[in-house]
Amino acid sequence: MPGDGPRRGDAFEHDIQVGALRPAFEAAGLELVEIDWRAPLDDFEGLSLVLLGTAWDYQDHPREFVTRLEELGERGIIVCNPPPVVRWNAEKRYLRELERRGVAIVPTVWLDDAGHGDVAAAMNQFGTDRVVVKRQVGAGGLRQHSFSRDAMPDQDWRMGRPCMVQPFLPSVVEEGEYTFLFIDGEFSHGVLKRAAQGEYRIQSLYGGYETDFTPSAEDLAGAKAVVAALPFDDLLYCRIDMARLHSGELAVMEAEAIEPYLYPEQGPGLGERLAKAIVARL
Ligand SMILES: Nc1ncnc2c1ncn2[C@@H]1O[C@H](COP(=O)(O)OP(=O)(O)O)[C@@H](O)[C@H]1O
Ligand SMILES: [Mg+2]
Repeated sequence: MPGDGPRRGDAFEHDIQVGALRPAFEAAGLELVEIDWRAPLDDFEGLSLVLLGTAWDYQDHPREFVTRLEELGERGIIVCNPPPVVRWNAEKRYLRELERRGVAIVPTVWLDDAGHGDVAAAMNQFGTDRVVVKRQVGAGGLRQHSFSRDAMPDQDWRMGRPCMVQPFLPSVVEEGEYTFLFIDGEFSHGVLKRAAQGEYRIQSLYGGYETDFTPSAEDLAGAKAVVAALPFDDLLYCRIDMARLHSGELAVMEAEAIEPYLYPEQGPGLGERLAKAIVARL
């Protein structure tokens, strides 16, 4: 988490994650130190491996962030996930590639910018009364919009950057968003993320909460198909977020390989699995 200034409302997730990993790492003979990604390069001196944590401001400085990871790589530090993965994953356009590879994604209109007319056109195209407009480079549900026919943007409203428009999936509110955690390509644990009353974003910043989730064989197969479609095979961790379409099929909302919160509370063996995967890389 960004080090200076007031802590974000979801900074407690950073504490939970580090608290869960530390004992497991120590047991595996690994020393864990927390370093802000903006710290001077020399602060990283002597590290064997950098595990991206909760760098939850990278989306506002994606180029700076990837450059920093590349600098660490040039210093011989193993970066997980590797900079090419991060570069690829930072723009949600990667979803189009997954779609080409046969994965079900949430139907999406891709735009360089959006205004009132684009929102209305997307509603017509999807045959829906409600859409979500998100940044192509975004995280944490921040600066995203939900519009409906009776709550349209102003005529002069502009998103002001590359964005994506999706039909609003009622299942996110009704049943929740599903998360599947993978460590070194192996399924680790599932999480069901629910939104607070009157909200549709499941992030803790908006009152969202998580519960344990044991996926059905069919849903797990859907998540594994997403992992198999990723154009990289060196991911230390990845988190597949999915939501149910009208058809009953799960569609990928995002395949997060940069700095996902790993939901350690729902995955008791997470620390050990991560430690093992790290040791194998050293
Ligand atoms: N098409 C959609 N229908 C319903 N809810 C959505 C939709 N897209 C996003 N959301 C909600 O907004 C949250 C943030 O969107 P997401 O695509 O995961 O972006 P981010 O990278 O910001 O997490 C999701 O977790 C979900 O709760
Ligand atoms: Mg998300």
